[in-house]
Amino acid sequence: MGLQTNDEGVRLREVKESDLPIFFEQRLDPAANYMAAFTSKDPSDKAAFLTHWKNILSNRDIQKMTILCNGCVAGSILKFEQFGNPEVSYWIGKQFWGKGIATCALLHFLPEIKIRPLYARAAKDNFASIRVLEKCGFERCDEDKGYSHARGKEVEEFILKLES
Ligand SMILES: CC(C)(COP(=O)(O)OP(=O)(O)OC[C@H]1O[C@@H](n2cnc3c(N)ncnc32)[C@H](O)[C@@H]1OP(=O)(O)O)[C@@H](O)C(=O)NCCC(=O)NCCS
Repeated sequence: MGLQTNDEGVRLREVKESDLPIFFEQRLDPAANYMAAFTSKDPSDKAAFLTHWKNILSNRDIQKMTILCNGCVAGSILKFEQFGNPEVSYWIGKQFWGKGIATCALLHFLPEIKIRPLYARAAKDNFASIRVLEKCGFERCDEDKGYSHARGKEVEEFILKLES
């Protein structure tokens, strides 16, 4: 996957191993974990995080990019299989929220993902993520629920679908 840029300084590039400690720090934030809901059991377990990401890096079936904003690592975006469907997911470091970065990153990422329909999941109260997905053309198509480690209880989510 090549480099992409937009007018606001948001760019996607290949993930480097040196990005992983930054992703780890970004995924420690309690508010972000609450929002995302379906997170790892212990976000502070750095060894588990690094092992998980090294597996992602070596898995050719997972498309993954680092999101840069004005040259800084702002987050990550991935496409993977879950429950038999291709899904996208993303995470933006909290200091970068509210600047349109997730929307911009997803708009750059989608043309690289050729498969349709493409799915995404978001906790029903993750309004920012639902908004990002809907701005990029995803539509709510179903719902599900699952155990959220971040909230310590079952949480309802929307499944969104991009048809074309
Ligand atoms: C969700 C997340 C990716 C959003 O990233 P971001 O870069 O701030 O998103 P953007 O700025 O591109 O867009 C956010 C949109 O949601 C809107 N929004 C934010 N909070 C909102 C709320 N509480 N209610 C309604 N809309 C909200 C913003 O106004 C914006 O929409 P707009 O452009 O129409 O104004 C980021 O908060 C994050 O990484 N959270 C933690 C991890 C996570 O939840 N990942 C997604 C898992 S499904």
